Amino acid sequence: MIDETAVREVLARVSYPGFSRDILSFGLVKEIAIDGDDVRVKVEIATRDPAVPQQIYTDAQAALAKLEGIGEVKLDFDIKDPPDAGAAGGAVGKSSIPGVKKVVAVASGKGGVGKSTVAANLAVALSKLEGSPAVGLCDCDLYGPSVALMFGRDDARPMATEQNEIIPIEAHGIKLMSMGFLLDDSSPVIVRGPLATRYTQQFLRGCTWGELDYLVLDLPPGTGDIQLTIVQTVAVDGAVVVTTPQEMALIDARKAASMFAKVNVPIVGVVENMSYFLSPSDGERYPIFGEGGGQAEAERLGVPLLGQIPIEMATREAGDNGRPVALGDGETAAAFSDLAGQVAKFL
Ligand SMILES: Nc1ncnc2c1ncn2[C@@H]1O[C@H](COP(=O)(O)OP(=O)(O)OP(=O)(O)O)[C@@H](O)[C@H]1O
Ligand SMILES: [Mg+2]
Repeated sequence: MIDETAVREVLARVSYPGFSRDILSFGLVKEIAIDGDDVRVKVEIATRDPAVPQQIYTDAQAALAKLEGIGEVKLDFDIKDPPDAGAAGGAVGKSSIPGVKKVVAVASGKGGVGKSTVAANLAVALSKLEGSPAVGLCDCDLYGPSVALMFGRDDARPMATEQNEIIPIEAHGIKLMSMGFLLDDSSPVIVRGPLATRYTQQFLRGCTWGELDYLVLDLPPGTGDIQLTIVQTVAVDGAVVVTTPQEMALIDARKAASMFAKVNVPIVGVVENMSYFLSPSDGERYPIFGEGGGQAEAERLGVPLLGQIPIEMATREAGDNGRPVALGDGETAAAFSDLAGQVAKFL
């Protein structure tokens, strides 16, 4: 009798051709059916290159054949065309942003889990890595932009070049672009559907980012059209999924992960925010939302748990005061620094 865990373990060692990441963590394995000693695996893949499924087929067959007592192995492939942004939103094809070396998206399925906080602090922590990389941060949330506020520049108004390109605002050494710069409190946010797509593209491409080592994208919460448009119109090199330890957030993190798998964006890993309460009085840790949720979810997705960020007053205050906590050197700053190191290594 073959058990599913053993099959998963084997598939987790089959890598996606050309990547170090395996097919399981890429979310390509849709179904594992076991009948006695016989195993049937359903693989779903979006690619136009026939060599990719062929290679996966060969590798998975060979790996599974080594499982003791295994009977017949059947691999079903569901091959789809990669989503074409041109068809969906009138956008040009997926391409890189001029001058930008690596793009990392910070996403969450659920709102309010601290995605913007993580994105802002990740950007700061990346810029503090060895060699002082040049970092940009783009707030792609058209409905509730917060990056401007987090960097204390919510009253800044970006200038445009003669070519009508927007010059990002700089704060704490990071180049920032945010819808918050273009709106004031009374502006109605009526950017929906096709307009949202156009704005987002202008945001990403129509800015004079200059030479950047990393561009961090703070995606809007959820896994809808806007998120898909963004990850389809620019070449995203990796995605960081933010969750809190609560069950609902974990379920939504799973949805975010499967969205990235669909468009072939590799997932760097999971960040568990508000992991534990860090008491300012005694430095004691209290796991108020329970323990182990982020770890278990990361394992389920077959990706690393990149960090556990405590919930503490200082982090919220730092956000509100326009000085991200990663600029300092406490326990939370260290956690963000570690996160940045892992992200940089992955990219
Ligand atoms: N680790 C933390 N410790 C304390 N406060 C935090 C922490 N993470 C986030 N917060 C606070 O929680 C609130 C929501 O965080 P944030 O805006 O980063 O979430 P979000 O996921 O980007 O939300 P949205 O879905 O609205 O974009 C903010 O007030 C922020 O300061
Ligand atoms: Mg946000």
